[in-house]
Formats: sequence, C-alpha cells, structure tokens
Amino acid sequence: MTRVTIALPPCPYDAVIENGLLHRSGEILRVLFSAIFNAKHERLFIVTVPPVRHKWGKKLTASLSAAGFVPKILEMPDGERHKKLATVERLSEQLSRLGADRNSVIVAFGGGVVGDVTGLLSSLYMRGLELVQIPTTVLAQVDASIGGKTGVNLRAGKNLVGTFHHPRMVLIDPTVLTTLPDREFRAGLYEALKCGVIGKPELFRALETVDAKKLRRDPAKLEWIIAESVRLKAEVVSSDERENGLRRVLNLGHTIGHALEAETSYRHFLHGEAVAWGMIASARIASAVHRIDQAGASRITDAVRALGPLPKVQSRSRDILRLLKSDKKTRNGVVHFVLPREIGKVEIANDVPEQVVIEAVDELRRLSR
Ligand SMILES: NC(=O)c1ccc[n+]([C@@H]2O[C@H](COP(=O)([O-])OP(=O)(O)OC[C@H]3O[C@@H](n4cnc5c(N)ncnc54)[C@H](O)[C@@H]3O)[C@@H](O)[C@H]2O)c1
Ligand SMILES: [Zn+2]
Repeated sequence: MTRVTIALPPCPYDAVIENGLLHRSGEILRVLFSAIFNAKHERLFIVTVPPVRHKWGKKLTASLSAAGFVPKILEMPDGERHKKLATVERLSEQLSRLGADRNSVIVAFGGGVVGDVTGLLSSLYMRGLELVQIPTTVLAQVDASIGGKTGVNLRAGKNLVGTFHHPRMVLIDPTVLTTLPDREFRAGLYEALKCGVIGKPELFRALETVDAKKLRRDPAKLEWIIAESVRLKAEVVSSDERENGLRRVLNLGHTIGHALEAETSYRHFLHGEAVAWGMIASARIASAVHRIDQAGASRITDAVRALGPLPKVQSRSRDILRLLKSDKKTRNGVVHFVLPREIGKVEIANDVPEQVVIEAVDELRRLSR
C-alpha cells in the first residue's frame, strides 16, 4: 500500500493506493473517522453513475456495511453534459429527502465528472460536509481526485462554477480500471506521462517503453505508475493550493489541449487525448524557442505517440491561436505556456511568438496525416 500525503494545512489528507483497496475501504474509513471525529459519522452517501454502480457498487457497499457504516447510493446520469448545477441541485434534494445531516459523509465514486460534481455538492450542502474521493478512471485517479478543485460547466464554458473543497481521504484501487474502456484507459495515461515530464523522469521512462495493452494486465506496474503520478500532483498541490504559481506547471499540454477540445466542441477528443497533442505541441514550441534540445523534444513526442492512436488534429492553426487568446486562463492577452526544459523539468513561458505556436499546430496536423 502506498500512502501519499497532500500536505495542506489545516487539514492534510492522504491518498492511499493499492490493488484491491475497494474491499478494504470500510475498514480504512472506519479507522480514519474514529481517529478524527468525536461525533458519529455512520451515514455515507455515495454519489455515482450507473456504469460504475453496476460494476463495482456492491463491492464498495459490502465493505462499508461490514465496517458498520450505513451506505446509501445516489445516482447521477453519466456524462460530461450532466456536469452542471442542475445535477448538484437534484442531488441536494435527494440528500435532504434521505435525511443527510451535518454528520453525514459524501463519497464520490466514479470518474472526474462524478468527482467534480460530488466535490461541489459536498462543499455546498449544509455549507459543507466531509468528502471522500474514490476515483474509478485513470484520469480521476492520477489527477482529478487530488487537489480539492470542484466544479461544473456553464454554457459559456467548462468548470466556470466551482469551489476548493478537499476530501478527507482519497482511496485509489487500480483494480477498478479493469472495466474501463480502452480509450478511456489510455486517455488517462497521457496525464500520467505529463506528470513524468513535469517532475518524475523515472515515471516518464516507465511510460515511454510501456505497451498500454500489456499494462492493463500488469497490476503491480499500473499501481506504481498511478502512485508516482499521485506523488507528483501531491507535491505540486501541497506547495501551491490555488494555482497562483507553481500549480500552473500541471497545465503542461493543457493550453493547446483546451483549445483543441473547444475548437472541436468537446466531441472529437477525450480530455487526455487533447492534452497528449498539447504535450507534443509544447515540446515542439520548447525546442523552437531553445528551451529543450531536439533529442528531448523528440523523446516526448515519441512517448506520447507510442501510447496508441490519437484522433486526428484537423483544426486550423489560426482558429487555435484565436481560442488561446480568449481562454479564461489567459492573463492580459498574454498566453502562458508550460514548456519542458528536459524530462522531469518544466518552466512557464509568456514570450512565445505567435508564429511558433502556429507552426506547432501545423505540425500536429502533419503528424495526423
Ligand atoms: N478537479 C480537477 O482537478 C480535475 C482535473 C482533471 C479533470 N477534471 C474533470 O474530470 C472530468 C473527466 O473525467 P473522466 O475522464 O474520468 O471522465 P468521466 O467521469 O466522464 O468517466 C469516463 C467514462 O468512464 C466511465 N467509468 C468510470 N469509471 C469506470 C470503471 N471503473 N469501469 C467502467 N467505466 C467507468 C464513466 O461512466 C464515463 O462514461 C472532466 O469533467 C474534467 O473537467 C477535473
Ligand atoms: Zn488534464
């Protein structure tokens, strides 16, 4: 079992990573809650989506019940389009009907969508209840469940309404990934590769030679990859909770990635796939502005492409550039890029010439042919 502490005062919390952890979740939460509370926290409200409930719901509730909890399951419909305030309101009404009170605990059991919606719900209902994250996609295990960001989408854009609300604990069981569709599995691996480029060279090396299909049958290696990614995210988040400085390094590949997602109306790429292209673009940009040598840039590009096929980039470079300038994270019209300096080291640049960005997107289209 790997335990990674997200060291945020006043409430540091642990992410626990282990194959088969779901079976032990009741026992682990029992220890956690009896150690930190006087009041009784017996009632757990698990928010999930039908696919996760069907495959893993019984395992979770059996373990919780055996440890003396009284778990109740609340379902939200599956999919990014349900990541909206109306879902939070509907779940709040359900919580209230089921008698949830201040001593209740909310459990987010699903991918990043469930994590974000449930995180927001738990920060708002009765002005905030205890939250436990049990992420079930690679993306949620290595990224979305750590760091306390919650949020829902508006018509005007993604994640525009949200809060910071950290869980008491994050329980990560890589075994649940066995039922994840192949494409979702690989999409999450690109975020793990991103962690490698940002600050874990050994993780990068492991992923650049991995066969994604074989990895699905190698639980020990998968557990290690997830634990290393969680470690990286925990280190970054612990040093900068609110994204003013250091936390921005986590956006490697996301500047162009978000623009690619937006330009294709969020239908063409899974998030991790867009980030994968974004990482290739940032390697190319970094090489063009002499931040990384050619060999380093090629290694990043090759590692991304070796993880499997990506949906093609067809967007026009000018359209991507226009979107970059209107992104909500753009400050005073200056586009910031996270650029690799070497494998395991990145820096923020705000002086990338437009022409270099255009050529990088041209290159993505060329690689897509
Ligand atoms: N809060 C953060 O810091 C943060 C960080 C990154 C991403 N996000 C958010 O995460 C969301 C994307 O998350 P995602 O990629 O996990 O998508 P998702 O939550 O939509 O899950 C993808 C699909 O996999 C299914 N699924 C989940 N677990 C499964 C399992 N074990 N077996 C079979 N099917 C399973 C889901 O039902 C869904 O259909 C986006 O909304 C993004 O904004 C948040
Ligand atoms: Zn991401």
